[in-house]
Amino acid sequence: MNETIYGSYGKTLQAVLDYLVQQIQSYSSARKERSGEAAYEHLIYRIKTPDSMEEKCRRKGLPCTAYSALHDIRDAIGLRVVCCFLDDIYENIASIAAIPGVRIVEEKDYIRQAKPNGYRSYHMILDVEAPYEDVLGQNPGHFFAEVQLRTIAMDSWASLEHQMKYKHDIQNPEMIVRELKRCADELAACDLSMQTIRNLIHEGS
Ligand code: GTP
Ligand code: MG
Repeated sequence: MNETIYGSYGKTLQAVLDYLVQQIQSYSSARKERSGEAAYEHLIYRIKTPDSMEEKCRRKGLPCTAYSALHDIRDAIGLRVVCCFLDDIYENIASIAAIPGVRIVEEKDYIRQAKPNGYRSYHMILDVEAPYEDVLGQNPGHFFAEVQLRTIAMDSWASLEHQMKYKHDIQNPEMIVRELKRCADELAACDLSMQTIRNLIHEGS
């Protein structure tokens, strides 16, 4: 078998990802049992492909080693929790913070403070303690994971904007950027209204 940039840690990353997925899913299933509503609409996750990890190391001026990939870069493991409502995002954050072995080491709230282009999402870097040796030789080891949480509206905006980045033959890019920003702000207003409507429905029941 060809060794990738992850060396012998490929399986470990997968095991840590599986653990996080299982914990996040079981919180949502329990909530569904309790209240009839799951905690999120969908969950996606991945281990960054060795090719894109190598590309990221080169871009950051790091050597292409397992140490760079697991220690210096913190999104080898990535998860995205896409929620129907704003409140669900904060509920998932609290449930993720309570996962045994998980410590949140960085948080970026691009929901309260949107990026200038209109991007909204809540980003966390987790430090996960797990029963595997890490790149420092410790066991239990520590492994980073990036979690992005957003609403369905924020998610659809981010995928459109992402597609745009790779189109280099756009006629009027300033206008597109402006229109995308306007769209992001309208979607944010809708997310607030949807949350309010949901609260009203819950009050009435
Ligand atoms: P890294 O070096 O990639 O870790 O950069 P960072 O830590 O400065 O980035 P940040 O945490 O802001 O964003 C990381 C990820 O969020 C990206 O890989 C994207 O998936 C997503 N993201 C951030 N900004 C944007 C944006 O403007 N548009 C879209 N579509 N996605 C974004
Ligand atoms: Mg990052």
